[in-house]
Amino acid sequence: RLLIIDFGSQVTQLIARRLRELNVYCEIHPYQSVNDAFLAEFAPKAVIFSGGPDSVTREGSPRPPRSVYDLGVPILGICYGQQVMMQDLGGLVEGGKITGGGGTAEFGRAYVVPSDKTDDLLSGWFAEGREQVWMSHGDHVSRIAPGFEVLGTSTHAPFAITADRSRHFYAVQFHPEVHHTPNGKALYENFVKLAGFTGDWTMGAYREEAIRRIRDQVGDHKVICGLSGGVDSSVAAVLIHEAIGDQLTCVFVDHGLLRLNEADEVVTMFRDNYNIPLIHADESDLFLGELDGVSDPETKRKIIGRLFIDVFQKHANEIEGAEFLAQGTLYPDVIESVSFSGGPSVTIKSHHNVGGLPEKMGLKLVEPLRELFKDEVRALGRELGLPEQFIGRHPFPGPGLAIRCPGEITRPKLEILRKADAVYIDQIRKHGLYDEIWQAFVAILPVRTVGVMGDGRTYDYACALRAVTSVDGMTADYYPFTHDFLGETATRIINEVEGINRVTYDITSKPPGTIEWE
Ligand code: XMP
Repeated sequence: RLLIIDFGSQVTQLIARRLRELNVYCEIHPYQSVNDAFLAEFAPKAVIFSGGPDSVTREGSPRPPRSVYDLGVPILGICYGQQVMMQDLGGLVEGGKITGGGGTAEFGRAYVVPSDKTDDLLSGWFAEGREQVWMSHGDHVSRIAPGFEVLGTSTHAPFAITADRSRHFYAVQFHPEVHHTPNGKALYENFVKLAGFTGDWTMGAYREEAIRRIRDQVGDHKVICGLSGGVDSSVAAVLIHEAIGDQLTCVFVDHGLLRLNEADEVVTMFRDNYNIPLIHADESDLFLGELDGVSDPETKRKIIGRLFIDVFQKHANEIEGAEFLAQGTLYPDVIESVSFSGGPSVTIKSHHNVGGLPEKMGLKLVEPLRELFKDEVRALGRELGLPEQFIGRHPFPGPGLAIRCPGEITRPKLEILRKADAVYIDQIRKHGLYDEIWQAFVAILPVRTVGVMGDGRTYDYACALRAVTSVDGMTADYYPFTHDFLGETATRIINEVEGINRVTYDITSKPPGTIEWE
């Protein structure tokens, strides 16, 4: 296995992701917990030093134990990790503008060109003469350590890539793990090959490892998991159940704003198929009661958010002696909340959020998916045997159908919306389009229009079909259905769903629109 020593970079998890893509098993450990004993016990086959925000020129800045250099295994130092390696092995690092050293700081795109020396690390690199890389550093190396040679340079970084080839120590100034270093994966691939990894690690092995970690963390205590029916919380629940069995209880808050048959499907799958203890908190009367007469979108969201927390807490309190709360937090949620928070951004929509719950309830968190990306969670879900239909599901917002029902929410309108949505999704699946679309749903509009069916006049609701493509939900484009598809779907909805006599297609992109209607 490979050890990543984390010096606090925002993108350390991306290194792990690149290695998992290469089917190499790695673990990230913070530098504070890596000492001589740890290294001896872990016995890594290779080590990577991550980047980090500190400056090696500062007294007391983070370091690995010296014994790491005596393990006789390849080491790759990235950015701060490069500087650590240079300084530890006898080179010189000087402060840049940020740390007051007066040298060059460098952020953003740069181009690295090869020197007259090369190495297997760079196999596949420089096919087109130079490689784009992403720099992000305040300090820089001004003299390399004895035994090192320069393999690549950039305009501002004469030591962009250096190596002590006899010991397989490599130090790079840039971040090969980020998207803006397009050929970065090849460096990792070459590095792990040099270290003797064969790329035989699998998601099955990840599952075993995750189960072991959950057991270590939780011991014989009880865990509560909020189940929404979405992919993330479902995968987390099944994984945790596999680890600790009936020490886990799931709480499924049913706010009465779910899609057709959704509540039954969730209950059947988890209670009957997986035998997971499940509290089905059917609180639709409470939610719909409080939403009665409310049409302002933000007010709706706030009511739902508040009730959700109350209800969850009430049912969680029934589980005696619970010490942990499980959440299906993914890595992108973690970075979003750490590195991009605090900006002067405007609240467009109040998101449904149970972030404050664990503290309020005195619970510790179990977040077994914290280092994974969405596609990896899906792969893990497959590994755990969750049905494909479930794993590939479109995202569904916490406030549910409430935000697809502009204006007042009534039970009859929700019934109509559920049926129309089911027909629409059925159409999309039948035409084999479901997986090409990020999200598709129906919104029921707060207008009634006149129509004619048979020989009679109708006066029913209009609805809007929405379907978008997106990679992350942040921006989106409408899906270009054929006119035939739209025509056929409109006909089916009007014929099969009583209460709707007009169908429109929403062709707004995001921005300026949002995906949901509220
Ligand atoms: P918008 O409508 O803001 O949606 O373009 C972007 C993505 O977020 C989902 N969404 C939510 N998800 N709680 C959630 O868990 C919410 O309150 C919420 N509001 C919107 C939306 O479905 C889309 O995928």
